[in-house]
Amino acid sequence: EAELIHVFKGIPFTTRSSPELLKSLDNFDAREDDVLLVSYPKSGTHWLAGVITKLYTTQVTLTSPIEFGDISKLEELNKLSSKRIIPTHLDYNMLPPNFKNKKCKMIYISRNPKDTAVSMYHYYRDNPNLPTVDTWTAFFDLFLKGDVVCGSWFDHFLSWEEHKNDKNVLFLFYEDMKKDLPKIVHDISVFLDINISDHEIQDICKKSSFSEMKTNTEKENSDPNHTVCALTSNRKLIFRKGTVGDWKNHFTPKQNVKFEEIFNEKMKLSKMAKGIIYE
Ligand code: A3P
Repeated sequence: EAELIHVFKGIPFTTRSSPELLKSLDNFDAREDDVLLVSYPKSGTHWLAGVITKLYTTQVTLTSPIEFGDISKLEELNKLSSKRIIPTHLDYNMLPPNFKNKKCKMIYISRNPKDTAVSMYHYYRDNPNLPTVDTWTAFFDLFLKGDVVCGSWFDHFLSWEEHKNDKNVLFLFYEDMKKDLPKIVHDISVFLDINISDHEIQDICKKSSFSEMKTNTEKENSDPNHTVCALTSNRKLIFRKGTVGDWKNHFTPKQNVKFEEIFNEKMKLSKMAKGIIYE
């Protein structure tokens, strides 16, 4: 099992991200019109990707995650002639510097880490590319220690939060998309400079509902071998439940206390932390 995971610059990656690729990322040639779609795993990346690709009327390519694959990846992305929407789970510090220098637009999606933990637990159980976890209790401890793929949720969030006011960064939350998707779609269109009518927004929201996306994937209308998650290419593993607050069905009261203790300690300098976990 140990061979499923390797550690690069202190962060656990699956073997689907080759060390050679990770080492070469610093030389990646970004383009000014690239759009990055950034997340910690299980935060709603596919949902957001679905929305964003539907917003464009011009030709865009949603690529697989930049850290997914082997050394041939960079050349593959280089060859794309259309505008690129590039997903990634990298934390800010590991992001290829070219994206920062060129001030590429970056959209960060986050989610109540309690729900993220539960979603990731099920993902570990269903995804053959990830190590086996026997129980929720065991996974809960690994998650809090940051001993999971992509490392600590806290470190990931904090590295990006530092840049939430950068002009080229848009910060979004899964829970806000659940509450008022049309508003978030509008905000995204403004951020991406896309003109769109209210009617078109309604249409995008309808097509991006959990049930629509899940059914679409099952019918294989969308390529079942394309995900925006670096941990699998099997889309069928993505659409599980799609709700807010599923953590309440998994956390014991004791686990909840422990989670909040660690959350408050790790996030004490965070301005956005309040409000993310108490919904
Ligand atoms: P659950 O496991 O809680 O159901 P990611 O895309 O970052 O891998 O995140 C996957 C999570 O987003 C899963 O959460 C999945 O069900 C949820 N999700 C995917 N599409 C969704 C949609 N259209 N609406 C709401 N949730 C969605």
